[in-house]
Amino acid sequence: MSAPVRTAIFPVAGLGTRFLPATKATPKELLPVVDTPLIQFAINEAREAGVERMIFVSHPSKAAIERHVMDDADLRATLTARGKTDIAQALHETALCPVGDDVVFTMQHEPLGLGHAVLCAREHALPGPIAVLLPDDLILGKSCLAEMVDAYAQAPQGHMVAAMHVSQEETRKYGILSVTGRDGRVVHADGMVEKPKPQNAPSREAVVGRYVLDGSIFDDLANQPPGAGGEIQLTDAISRGTERLGLAGFRFSGTRYDCGSKGGMLRATLDLAAQDPECAEVLEEVLSSGKIAFRTSSAA
Ligand code: G1P
Repeated sequence: MSAPVRTAIFPVAGLGTRFLPATKATPKELLPVVDTPLIQFAINEAREAGVERMIFVSHPSKAAIERHVMDDADLRATLTARGKTDIAQALHETALCPVGDDVVFTMQHEPLGLGHAVLCAREHALPGPIAVLLPDDLILGKSCLAEMVDAYAQAPQGHMVAAMHVSQEETRKYGILSVTGRDGRVVHADGMVEKPKPQNAPSREAVVGRYVLDGSIFDDLANQPPGAGGEIQLTDAISRGTERLGLAGFRFSGTRYDCGSKGGMLRATLDLAAQDPECAEVLEEVLSSGKIAFRTSSAA
């Protein structure tokens, strides 16, 4: 059995340029899918996986993330005084509490890459393997991280990443595993490359933003020269540790949405709206009206 995963790291310092102007004043992690900000889904997933400490690697310009994440007793008191006890209770259940929960906010002042963001959490991480969750990969269904933590507990120590099958063309958008074998939901690999040209992709197993990493990742990141885009790439540090530790992809059971793109955000919104009684009625009415004027690139 491997050591338990006690720490979850949320890299949330990014600028969110793909969603400007929406992200000019609102962090992309707070963009809502129906009524729930992306960061909340990731927090719920980490909670289900039973982690003890959550570390948010943020940026001074994104203080609103902390305001969302942490409990707001004044807001709850106001809601309760107005008779909105259900809403106050729901906020209490989803928020993290400075007394009962172990939460750390630390800053990444410069955009030096995902690997650098994870390294910023080093001094706050508890001993043992760590989890990393990228909130713009929204995964609905069973907690992907909980599934991975279970699978990791059965496997020898090493690195484990969430994996999904993509088309050859899409390999350019992801870290891609160099696959050596398969065992049920586990995909064995001997390395990974960041956003290869499709013709150079070693497989079509793409890395999704959930990682369970051996604690030695911090040493590998600290000694890591800048890679693609001049950034400290998490992918490079994982790949470096692979020979020493082993690397596995995990085919999770949930549905993943690329909420770092408008299309993915829309898909997630439509899927969740269809589950929400208030929205489902409107969605059905709009879709059945036949009055939506679609403009696709081929029709332009
Ligand atoms: C990051 C990682 C990449 C991974 C992807 C998953 O890329 O660097 O390896 O496949 O997340 O969403 P990003 O999409 O942040 O550029």
